[in-house]
Amino acid sequence: MSKILTAYFSASGTTKKLAKTIAETAKSDLFEIVPEIPYTNDDLKWTNKSSRSSVEMNDKNSRPKISSKVENMEQYDSVFIGFPIWWYEAPRIIQTFLESYDFSGKNIVTFATSGGSGMGKTNNILKLSCSPDAKWCDGKRLSSNTDANTIKNWLDELNI
Ligand SMILES: Cc1cc2nc3c(=O)[nH]c(=O)nc-3n(C[C@H](O)[C@H](O)[C@H](O)COP(=O)(O)O)c2cc1C
Repeated sequence: MSKILTAYFSASGTTKKLAKTIAETAKSDLFEIVPEIPYTNDDLKWTNKSSRSSVEMNDKNSRPKISSKVENMEQYDSVFIGFPIWWYEAPRIIQTFLESYDFSGKNIVTFATSGGSGMGKTNNILKLSCSPDAKWCDGKRLSSNTDANTIKNWLDELNI
């Protein structure tokens, strides 16, 4: 049987809820990507050009540190990676995560929550940070309330 990991970053709990439903439905392990320095409410203010999130998203090379590592990443055949959309992209910490492991040969599937935006160029940007011989699968923007049945249909379509 293939072994799956659902890894996610969630600044305010929305993606966390979705990640839990995906992990339960896929019977996967669950890993929270926790920033070494947690984001405060002020850090998340997108209306403020000098807030931490604005500064990071304006810097393509920003790589916020993660507080812990996935044990034995090599045991997983597939990794779901979830995040909120920030400025039509994934938060930079997702690039930190992708650049921290060898994903060669693994299925990588993204998923996101947002206020309404789709994934845009997110996957193209993230792919550049992932091992080139990973099997990348452009994922979906989903509502945090997506029910287990809808998730199951999506997993069946992915066939992993
Ligand atoms: C810094 C920042 C930038 C955001 N940019 C967008 C955006 O471009 N499009 C959008 O639809 N929502 C945007 N949002 C809203 C989040 O994507 C949305 O609230 C998400 O579900 C939050 O997930 P979380 O609770 O897991 O952090 C942004 C939120 C923040 C904090």
